Amino acid sequence: MDILIINGPNLNMLGKRDPKHYGTQTLDDINEYIKSKFPDINISFFQSNSEGEIIDKLHEASSKYDGVVLNAGAYTHYSYAIADAIDCIDPPVVEVHLSNIHERENFRHISVLAPNCIGQIAGLGKDSYVQGIMLIAERCGKIDK
Ligand code: DQA
Repeated sequence: MDILIINGPNLNMLGKRDPKHYGTQTLDDINEYIKSKFPDINISFFQSNSEGEIIDKLHEASSKYDGVVLNAGAYTHYSYAIADAIDCIDPPVVEVHLSNIHERENFRHISVLAPNCIGQIAGLGKDSYVQGIMLIAERCGKIDK
C-alpha cells in the first residue's frame, strides 16, 4: 500500500510553533514516528506552504497512491480550491489535525475540506496521522474494522 502524507502551511515550523497546541516535536520527528508505526506501508511525505503546490501534489496523487492523509493547516478553513482538488482525485483523502480544532477559535471549527474527505481526525497529536492511515487501510480492505 502507498500512502501520501501532505502537510500544509506553517507545519514546517513544528518544534518552535505554539507548543501548547502542537507539542515540541519537529515535522521530521513526527514523520519518523509515523514510519515506525507502519513498516510494511510505503509512506511518502510532502510539505508546502503554498496552496498551488498542495493542489498540484493532490492531482499527482491520483495515479500514484492508495490514499492521502492531509493536514492542510489553515487552508482547511477556507480553501475551496483544495476542496475542489480533493473532489477531482480518486484516492480517498483523510483530513487530520494535530490539535482539536473544535475546542479552539471559531474560525477553526469550520472545515471546507471535510465534505470531500472520508473522515476528519483531530486532537490526537501525531497519532492523528496514524489513525488517518488506519482509516485508509481499512477502506482499502487491508485491515478489519
Ligand atoms: C492545524 C490546525 C489549523 O487550524 C492550523 O491553522 C494549523 C494546524 C492542526 O494540525 O492542528 O496550521 O491543522
